Amino acid sequence: MADRLDVGIIGLGVMGQRMLARLASHGTLRATQVWDADPQAVARTLAAYPQLVAAADAQALIATPGLASLYIATPPGPHMALSNRAFDSGLAVFCEKPLTVDFASARQTIARIDREGHRAAVNFSLASSPGLAALQDAWAERPHGLLGVPQAVGIELAFAAWPRPWQSAAGAWLSERHEGGFTREVLSHFVFVLQRVLGRAAVQSSKPAYPSDGPGAETALAALLHAGGLPVTVKAAIGGDQDDVNRMTLAGSGGEIELREWFGVGRRRHGQTWTSLGDPAALRASGQAEQLTQWVAMIEGRPHGLPGYAEALAVQETIEALLAGA
Ligand SMILES: NC(=O)c1ccc[n+]([C@@H]2O[C@H](COP(=O)([O-])OP(=O)(O)OC[C@H]3O[C@@H](n4cnc5c(N)ncnc54)[C@H](O)[C@@H]3O)[C@@H](O)[C@H]2O)c1
Repeated sequence: MADRLDVGIIGLGVMGQRMLARLASHGTLRATQVWDADPQAVARTLAAYPQLVAAADAQALIATPGLASLYIATPPGPHMALSNRAFDSGLAVFCEKPLTVDFASARQTIARIDREGHRAAVNFSLASSPGLAALQDAWAERPHGLLGVPQAVGIELAFAAWPRPWQSAAGAWLSERHEGGFTREVLSHFVFVLQRVLGRAAVQSSKPAYPSDGPGAETALAALLHAGGLPVTVKAAIGGDQDDVNRMTLAGSGGEIELREWFGVGRRRHGQTWTSLGDPAALRASGQAEQLTQWVAMIEGRPHGLPGYAEALAVQETIEALLAGA
């Protein structure tokens, strides 16, 4: 394993800043070069991290000698073009979800990755989480173990406001129908978990609610999917008094397992009380640390658990089908 892997970051908004903070204490991955289309975002970043170098533009960053990987934290629009420019330079790419809303370009990029053997992964934060591993274990033990015979999946999301308070500095795109909205932004994480554990989901019915005028993103979504032979119900809405409520429950004849508030995990046999897999903050910390470990493995060409572009596109195809309504 390398002692040090230099990372360039394009996109210095909410997620770019979060990743910079996580990388600051990492032993191997080191952010060195940054760039953002907004000069003020670059200036703010250099004020907080004076050791970083601001590239002249995206191409100059990608061409920096010695760079091992590019992290892309722009809105979805430029993800494919930036990925392809990074592949031209032989970089390993870690790209934010949603992969893209341009499926033709994603398919061309995936074909290129396969043909030329590029290293690429997408940042679904639950990919390295203890909760996903617990769901996979419970699923693998069926029809025995905690679940018995699996019966249904339920996903519930609620937001006091959209965007959530911690994303209030994000661009207008996040509130708009074309690239933003909670279905792409939040539900996609749970559809990723669903498809990783149960296999590809098919949308049976979907009713997104949109504002009656303007480009605003969805305000509610009610849907029924099928995955792994089970019905999957989705209920999501802006409303209530909590910033970010999320819950994904996999229930069977013997018991159920639930992801709660992102990294929390509860399990119970029917008739018994819930037990927790651990403190949610500790589970979050271990999931985020593991994500960086997996990124290092991806850069070094070793096996890793991060979703590739094809898996991320399969998530996005399900998400866009939900948003289209059925
Ligand atoms: N994995 C997660 O848990 C998670 C959480 C939040 C957001 N995200 C994803 O991260 C991405 C960024 O979201 P955000 O909340 O940071 O958005 P943001 O609006 O806060 O930041 C995006 C930044 O990208 C810059 N930018 C836009 N177009 C660019 C281009 N062509 N080249 C260079 N810079 C460009 C903008 O100036 C801005 O600074 C999105 O894809 C979003 O869905 C992922």
